[in-house]
Amino acid sequence: MSDTPTFASAQARDAADPLRAFRARFALPPDEHGTPLTYLCGHSLGLLPLAAREVIAQELDDWAHLGVEGHEHARRPWVPYHENLTAGLATLTGARAAEVVAMNSLTVNLHLMLASFYRPRGGRTRILIEAGAFSSDRHAVASQIAWRGLEPDTTLLELAPRAGADTVPEELIEEFLEARGEEIALVLWPGVQFRTGQAFDLARITRAAHAHGCIAGFDLAHSIGNVPLALHATDADFAVWCSYKYLNGGPGAIGGCFVHQRHTDAQPRTQHSGALPGARLAGWWGHEAPTRFLMEPQFQAATGVAAWQLSNPSILAAAPLIASLAIFEEAGIGALREKSLALTGFLAQLLAPLEPRVHIITPLAPAQHGCQLSLRIAGRTARGRQLFEALAKRGMVCDWRAPDIIRVAPVPLYNRFADAWLFAQALREVLA
Ligand SMILES: Cc1ncc(COP(=O)(O)O)c(C=O)c1O
Repeated sequence: MSDTPTFASAQARDAADPLRAFRARFALPPDEHGTPLTYLCGHSLGLLPLAAREVIAQELDDWAHLGVEGHEHARRPWVPYHENLTAGLATLTGARAAEVVAMNSLTVNLHLMLASFYRPRGGRTRILIEAGAFSSDRHAVASQIAWRGLEPDTTLLELAPRAGADTVPEELIEEFLEARGEEIALVLWPGVQFRTGQAFDLARITRAAHAHGCIAGFDLAHSIGNVPLALHATDADFAVWCSYKYLNGGPGAIGGCFVHQRHTDAQPRTQHSGALPGARLAGWWGHEAPTRFLMEPQFQAATGVAAWQLSNPSILAAAPLIASLAIFEEAGIGALREKSLALTGFLAQLLAPLEPRVHIITPLAPAQHGCQLSLRIAGRTARGRQLFEALAKRGMVCDWRAPDIIRVAPVPLYNRFADAWLFAQALREVLA
C-alpha cells in the first residue's frame, strides 16, 4: 500500500496536464449542494460541451426567422447539414471524407449495413459475433438472419472467451475463422467491448475475416472519440457508431457510418444493387444533392457512403456534435489518447491493491483498452450493487452491469487525475 499514489500526486499530475483547460468547456453535473459530482460515465453518456447551447440556439433562431428558407439560407444551411460533421468524423475514424456520414442512430445504421453486406449464399450463411454482444447488435443480426428466412439459433455464431477468461484474444478469433471461416458470411465485432472494456486490433480481425472470404464490420460505439482509429487503412468493410458516449453529442445524438471506398467506388450510381453482396437500401437523402429536388423516379447516388442516407437528418440531433467535434479537433485525438492512457493507467494503479475484492477484468496492456475499466466485485450481485449504490452516495457517477461489474471511465477531455484518486478512495471506504 505504501506506494499507492497520494491525492497530492494526483493534483500534481493535473497541474502538469496540457489538456487540463478542456474540463471547463463541459457542464459537470452537480450534487444537491452544487458541487460537481465525480463523473466517470462518459462510456455511457458524454457530458454537454457548453458550446453546444450556442450551436443549437442558432438553429432555433434560424428556424424562427427563416422558416422553410432555413434549408438553404440558415447560417449553416440544413440541406447539406451533415457535411458539417464529415471532416471531424473522418479524422476520428481514420477514414476518407467520402467514407463517413453522420446519419440515423447506431442500430438503424447497423441494419442498413447488414442489408448491403450480409448476403448468405450456399454454405456461407453465418454471422460471427462475440458472446455477450450488446443486446441491440444481437437483436439486429438475429433479425436479419430471420428476415432472410434462416434460423438465428443455428446461423448466428457467438464466440466466447476461453474457459475461465473474461476477454477474447485476437488469436482466438483467428483460430475460429481458420476452423469455420468458410461457413461465415460476415463478422461483426466491437472496437471496444462494452462490458469488458477490451479494445481490439481491428486490422488484425479484418485481415483474418478477409483471408477466409468474410465481410468485416465493426460496432464502434465505445471506440470513437476514445481510441484512435484507422478504418481506411485497416480495410474494414463497414462500421457504425453512436455519438452520445465519448463523442459528447448528447442523448440520442445522430449516429454515424463508414463504408470503405473500394465498395462505394464499385457500386453503380444509378442502381441499388451492384458490386455489394446485397442491395443498398435507398431514400431521397442518398440521392446526389444537385438533382435531389427534381424528384425524378431514377435514383442517382451521392458520392461515397452519403448514398446510404435515407431521410433528411434531425438538425437538433446533429447540432451539438458540431460543437463537440470542434473540441476534438482542437485537443487532437493523439494527445487525448496519450492522456487517456496515463489517466486510466493511474486509476488501475490505484485500484490494484484492492484485488481480489475488486478485480479489473479489462486487459491492462495499453493497446487493449480505452478509457474504461470494468471492475468485477467479489460477492456477486447483492454485494456489487450495494457497493455501487454506496459509491453513488459518495458522488461517484459510474455504472452497473449485472451480475457483478462496475464500469468506470475517466475521460481525458473532462476528467482529472484527482477524479481517479477520489473514485479509488471512495471505493476503499465503501469496501471497508
Ligand atoms: C455497443 C453498442 N451497440 C449498440 C448500441 C445501441 O445504440 P442505439 O440506441 O444508438 O442504436 C449501444 C448503445 O449504447 C452500444 O453501446
